[in-house]
Amino acid sequence: FMLTGWYYAFVIQRYSSSNRPSTSSNSIVSPRKSGVVTQTFDAMIDFRRQQARRTLLIHLGRSHSESELYKLCSRIGSITNMTLYTTNKRECALLEFSNEQSVKNLLKITSHFTNENRLPCVSRNLYFASQYTGARLKYPPVGREVQQPDDLLVDKALNDIHNVSDQIRYFWQKTKLTEVDTRLRYFVASLVEEALGSIFVDTVCLPFGSSVNTFGKSRCDLDMLLSFEDFRNKNIKFDGKMQQLRFLTKRSYLNDRFQAQAYLKILADTLKHFMAECTNVQIILPARVPIVRFQHRLSDLQCDVSMSEFKSSYYMSKLLWSLSSTDSRVAPIVFAIRRWAREASITQSAPGPWFSNFQMTLLVIFYLQSIEILPKLNYINEQYTTATTATSSFQDGIAANGDLSDDVILMNELENIRHIPANKANNSSLAILLKGFFSFYEKFDFQSSIITLLERQNMSKSSLIQAGKDKEWPIFVENPLVPSMNASKNLVESEAERFRQTCTKASQILSQSSKNLISLFEECRQAIPDDLIARAYPAPISIMPDLETDIDQEELTTIGHIQQEQIERAFDHSH
Ligand code: CTP
Ligand code: MG
Repeated sequence: FMLTGWYYAFVIQRYSSSNRPSTSSNSIVSPRKSGVVTQTFDAMIDFRRQQARRTLLIHLGRSHSESELYKLCSRIGSITNMTLYTTNKRECALLEFSNEQSVKNLLKITSHFTNENRLPCVSRNLYFASQYTGARLKYPPVGREVQQPDDLLVDKALNDIHNVSDQIRYFWQKTKLTEVDTRLRYFVASLVEEALGSIFVDTVCLPFGSSVNTFGKSRCDLDMLLSFEDFRNKNIKFDGKMQQLRFLTKRSYLNDRFQAQAYLKILADTLKHFMAECTNVQIILPARVPIVRFQHRLSDLQCDVSMSEFKSSYYMSKLLWSLSSTDSRVAPIVFAIRRWAREASITQSAPGPWFSNFQMTLLVIFYLQSIEILPKLNYINEQYTTATTATSSFQDGIAANGDLSDDVILMNELENIRHIPANKANNSSLAILLKGFFSFYEKFDFQSSIITLLERQNMSKSSLIQAGKDKEWPIFVENPLVPSMNASKNLVESEAERFRQTCTKASQILSQSSKNLISLFEECRQAIPDDLIARAYPAPISIMPDLETDIDQEELTTIGHIQQEQIERAFDHSH
């Protein structure tokens, strides 16, 4: 694990009857794990966010000092969970209190000891300077290892599994996000929320994309959506008359995009100058969706924060999560296809005129719908899709009179998808589904048909063009939340053909009984065509080049660090 710098994790968990995970709405047990659909997407997100607020991330200055840290922090409040992991040779503890107040108390005490010459920037990134020199404490007593092996080890183990379905399931289990991975993502999002929350009180920062939609691979990037209200809870009926009273607003901003850029600039400055552990802060404003990009060192996460008046990225995650929850075969098959696509250079880590992971996921879902394993989405009927223009169909969710707009109601309806029973009639194994995906797409006519998750009578491209909805794109993957809008405008025609040919090859490989998942990956491996590389998108230009290259680690962690002796003394005084 030292090679990858990631991932040795050790969980210390102590359950009392009051904080034991249960099947109540606070349970972290995912619906699939428990076999019972108990949670909604929003409830899951809210639980995780709440958990993150009760959590601190602590860099252990000395290894094996976790017992000492645990003992010390137990004096502040009851600890629900402590997970140890190592990243870039640094040992860290993700420590969750059962009560948010304990975090506040601890930070209050800790901020007393910040170097006097510094501005006390309180954050939940801490440093623990162990002073214990004696034998290791045998406390706390409960431990469990949750180590996620690196890709090479996974492939090696896959070779020893002979059944392709078992290989797919194993691959998914060993590469998906782990519990600590997930916790870290919500933790970082809560740090961002907190950083800006002191300036803009109702700041909400929600993770989205592969971090939350069940398709996240261990170590994938963290996408976050920033807003200044919890747009999900807009179900208050307003008195229409009150519209007469409005905030005065700045006139210097021509539109919402400019305003978003101004907010993001403040976020970038805050992270750069005051938030420990956030490094390489970049701000990319000219992008279609402006973003702040940074690295959070203690979690080793690459993060993107964006703002969008249309919260579609959040709802898209909800949609994918809901679809994935209807059938336990969805996530494993998506993982296998994504890996295959990566090996075959059908997808790339950088954006360009090729398929993205997100588009590949939509392709898998479209295929699973075609064989009736997943339901077609019929929350928007044909009439709606042709009558609405692409840009107006997904607005910010509130009608002028303050009521919820149809769109938000529709988005909330997404949850119901999960209650559509999986098609028991189609109990194809994962191996059959994998093969089926390739046979389906080797014959797919990208020239005349569209890929759509919506219930449509007519799936020909010409029907959309006739309706005046869009120009002729070489590949049309309909954005399910913005009907008639192409979510694959980046793709060039040659990619459809290359994709089809690679599917044919994959089909042939899998038709031989001696071949398995690993042979599929190895034999489909190909380089990306040169002419395509030449058309790659230029790297986004940051307007905030990073100046802090390699500041001494100790230097950065001084902010908010714990001095054990002092904390003990302060704690004793306060009682
Ligand atoms: N998204 C979208 N429409 C697009 C592209 C992206 O709605 N045309 C949303 C999706 O919810 C997607 C998320 O933005 O999941 C993040 O996009 P991206 O990071 O490209 O994809 P991920 O699903 O996060 O996959 P990866 O693991 O490659 O990051
Ligand atoms: Mg992503």
